[in-house]
Amino acid sequence: MSQRPTLQNGSRRAFLQWSAAAAAVSAFRIVNEPLLAAAAVDRDLQHFPPGSVVINANENPLGPCDLARKALSEIIPEGGRYCWWLKDELAKSLADSVGVKPENVAMFPGSSEPLHFSVMAFTSPSRSYVTADPGYESGMHSSKFSGARVAKTALTKSYAHDIPAMLAAAPDAGLFYVCTPNNPTGTLTPHSAIEELLAQKPKGSVVLVDEAYIHFADLAATAIDLVKAGQDIIVLRTFSKIYGMAGLRCGAAIARPDLLEKLVPQGGGSAMPVTALVAASASLKHEHLVRERKLVNTTIRQKTFDWLSSQGYSFTPSQANFFMLDARRPAKQVIDALAAKKVFIGRIWPAWPTHLRISVGTQADMDGFQSAFAAVMKNSTSVSYALPARPADSNCDYFYADGQMFPRA
Ligand SMILES: Cc1ncc(COP(=O)(O)O)c(C=O)c1O
Repeated sequence: MSQRPTLQNGSRRAFLQWSAAAAAVSAFRIVNEPLLAAAAVDRDLQHFPPGSVVINANENPLGPCDLARKALSEIIPEGGRYCWWLKDELAKSLADSVGVKPENVAMFPGSSEPLHFSVMAFTSPSRSYVTADPGYESGMHSSKFSGARVAKTALTKSYAHDIPAMLAAAPDAGLFYVCTPNNPTGTLTPHSAIEELLAQKPKGSVVLVDEAYIHFADLAATAIDLVKAGQDIIVLRTFSKIYGMAGLRCGAAIARPDLLEKLVPQGGGSAMPVTALVAASASLKHEHLVRERKLVNTTIRQKTFDWLSSQGYSFTPSQANFFMLDARRPAKQVIDALAAKKVFIGRIWPAWPTHLRISVGTQADMDGFQSAFAAVMKNSTSVSYALPARPADSNCDYFYADGQMFPRA
């Protein structure tokens, strides 16, 4: 199993807290293994135990590329300055790389912000938010703030967004969210379907296409050409995934300038971390990064798929760095039992209660996952862990995952 040194290198206080917790845990382990497993599930509040396999957040274990690391170390002395020009330079480089004008690109510290700002700008109590289920939940959370109704539609048989169903679900739509490849299934929605949505959507509504994982996909056609065609569309891109910069925070919205302007009053236009700006610029200059990392991911994902098939399991035909695996039993049982073996996988989507979301980590991560999963499934009839009651003073109804706050189920 691979070590996660970056997650372990916390502050001295965190280390002491962890040591105390670890001592208590080893005494506890002897007495009650199942409860220990349950405690481990509340992992979002703490560091992962040493030796954990952490494949729960669609992160890229490779981290920033070598050019980005060099740029990061060189920018440190400038960290006291805003360096606005670096933001403009990055917007220009990204625009050039995807074939749009710089005024079509707005940079943000991650793509979560423009996702949230789009919901705030284009939905309201009278303009609904339309999304797929299972789908990435972040915009639904934002719609609580805009007061919009959320219309959720199931995926098609080929796991694409069901455009006719999305259109039918909300004649009052303000924003249609299409995530392709879709989180959590990793599956694609064809370009033709997005064109159909744009052609038939209600007047004044906007289509938000989230391409966070597009670099991993073989057959995905970007929707950026529809921006160039002047359509009512915003495309989101992020440096968190293939570029391995989730902790550095850099993303972009690509759209007509009048649509981007609607995001500015929500907080778009703010200064960005100079670290994120230089690392992203350097990553774009890396000639082989996308091709090489895509190959690494595809190879490890395929090996995992081959193993799962040989064991008789079915999974979504993912084109991304994660997939959904049907455990054929309540997902929570399996998640908890894997956590007891220090293998941490993704959360549950209530629409698919027997499915597990597995991120593709290193080969060592996936080997660790496979052996833990085989052991858990072998003993699955005896698996039954209860989550401990939340602390009495906790009124936190949200948990943190994939760089986002999500409402607890
Ligand atoms: C589909 C999708 N969109 C957006 C994000 C947000 O990523 P970030 O804010 O790191 O760019 C994520 C994060 O996991 C995601 O899965």
